[in-house]
Amino acid sequence: MSTEETLIADVEAAFAAGEDARLQAQAIADAMRTAFAEGWPETSEKMGSDDGTYLIHANDELGHPNGGFRIYAYRQPQQPESPQSPHDHGPCFVVYGVARGGNVHTRWAWQYSDDTTQAPELTPMQTVDQGPGEAAYFLPGEIHSTQGSRTEETVYVRITSQSLEEVWRHRYNPAHHSSRAFKASGSPTRTS
Ligand SMILES: [Fe+2]
Repeated sequence: MSTEETLIADVEAAFAAGEDARLQAQAIADAMRTAFAEGWPETSEKMGSDDGTYLIHANDELGHPNGGFRIYAYRQPQQPESPQSPHDHGPCFVVYGVARGGNVHTRWAWQYSDDTTQAPELTPMQTVDQGPGEAAYFLPGEIHSTQGSRTEETVYVRITSQSLEEVWRHRYNPAHHSSRAFKASGSPTRTS
């Protein structure tokens, strides 16, 4: 099997093995790192040389917990530094990895005061600085923002546990601790 066929088989196996998102995501991230070590996705026939989004594989039968996982590869030019745009992925989890270049993810969470009369604040919790060969995931309900490399072209991969087109998600304003529900098909493109 090709590297890509092996990856797809490993992702299918992760979803077929059970419904635990953490176990599924860990297995998929492991499989993604293995594929990166073999030069994928730039070896893929589905990947082009232009900047953009490439659908590598869609499966409407398997996913978490309903069918619809997707594998996308992206070729992204140098990115200007941009305001952080935290978002979630609704009931889905997402595995992100970098084959070349870099992405920096910030993981956010609601921080609650001991004074339960006060509203929580959206707080940056962790920075995940991804370089070539690295993968990380964001489980259902987790919030993150992404800054693409400001100095290098980046090739990265995103595996979503379902198609995000159909699910309600939230985008967050960290200055105001506010959120807004959206579906990807009707939203600006910065949120991934
Ligand atoms: Fe995302």
